[in-house]
Amino acid sequence: MSETKIITFEDLKQNNKKDSLYILIHQKVYNVSKFIDEHPGGDEVILAETGKDATEAFEDVGHSDEARAILKDLFIGEFEKDGALKVKPTYDSHSPSSQAVNTAVQQGSNMMYFVPLAMLGAYFAWRYYSSGSL
Ligand code: HEM
Repeated sequence: MSETKIITFEDLKQNNKKDSLYILIHQKVYNVSKFIDEHPGGDEVILAETGKDATEAFEDVGHSDEARAILKDLFIGEFEKDGALKVKPTYDSHSPSSQAVNTAVQQGSNMMYFVPLAMLGAYFAWRYYSSGSL
């Protein structure tokens, strides 16, 4: 059995042309050059995902099992372990808990807008009612 090749973030960024095109999905790297012209979704969407984590873009489309089977043939290697940190600082596909944290952080940042706005609203409501009662 041959050892799995490790693809670095540099490799991923450099292979961004149609003749050698690396795409990163779920920590695995695929060379899609041979397939890109046949892609039913067109070449542009794939070209837009070079040099970064394409997992979300790929999953958002809801690709079929056939699409996933094609991926198997295009597989060239695993992405470097800490590479996920470089392409997407807060995302680790192997850790559900880190996704939970991300969600919490996102919700937290929504609160950062909501709380001051609610306070502002409360202040004006208070001004309105207190001036009305004078
Ligand atoms: C790199 C590996 C990819 C493979 C092997 C692949 C394969 C396929 C296949 C076989 C289809 C036909 C429908 C299906 O079977 O699900 C499809 C459709 C599609 N793909 Fe991909 N795809 C890849 C990446 C991407 C990426 C990164 C995007 C980015 C958004 C994308 C966007 C689309 C879209 C929008 C369609 C729908 C086209 C339509 O129905 O008009 N694909 N893809």
